[in-house]
Amino acid sequence: MGIYSRHVFPRLCDRAMRRSEMARLRSELLADVDGEVLEIGFGTGLNLEHYPEHVRRLTAVDPGEGMGRLGRRRIARSKMEVDHRVTGAESLPFEDDRFDCVVTTWTLCSIPAVRRALSEVYRVLKPGGRFLFLEHGLNDDPSVRRWQHRLTLIQRVLADGCRLDLDVESVVRSQLFREVEVARFLLEGTPRLLGSIYRGVARK
Ligand SMILES: C[S@@+](CC[C@H](N)C(=O)[O-])C[C@H]1O[C@@H](n2cnc3c(N)ncnc32)[C@H](O)[C@@H]1O
Repeated sequence: MGIYSRHVFPRLCDRAMRRSEMARLRSELLADVDGEVLEIGFGTGLNLEHYPEHVRRLTAVDPGEGMGRLGRRRIARSKMEVDHRVTGAESLPFEDDRFDCVVTTWTLCSIPAVRRALSEVYRVLKPGGRFLFLEHGLNDDPSVRRWQHRLTLIQRVLADGCRLDLDVESVVRSQLFREVEVARFLLEGTPRLLGSIYRGVARK
């Protein structure tokens, strides 16, 4: 892991992801979580202030060291109790059927083995538990898609592994979830390349 990944990108990412429109979407998604909650791709902890009052404990994973450093500072300033683990989602260090909710926001794009990670999400959810996600991905317009495929190579370098062309809905639907609901919309003030949003809930 180089200097860019450890020191530069986490700060850039934290600043870019703090926008008020994104904060509003975080609050809307998280309003509905309850019970034992796992957040995957905790990053710099931008979701912390958006968890509802009844969620005071969180388990969080993220393999990024630099992200983790900023994330732990936010944890220290928060009233929530967070069990923060520096690890990837492809092999979660938790027993089967443990969590009521698993959450990801703007994370699936950065996970190299995303299907493997989603099968882990399914495994650690209790029967009836929910996976809530707010992600960016592939646009429906073929000309935008073409550019998303072309520019993913550059985006991966600039944004520490993030790809522009993940078909979020189909990777979630490829798992064993009983029900999947997905809403698609554009993020205000963001080019379609990066602002094609998938917000959804999948139930085990
Ligand atoms: C764009 S950031 C989003 C951070 C945070 N979820 C947010 O909404 O602000 C993507 C995050 O995915 C994390 N990530 C990358 N690979 C991962 C993996 N294999 N498992 C879990 N998280 C991963 C990165 O370290 C980074 O924190």
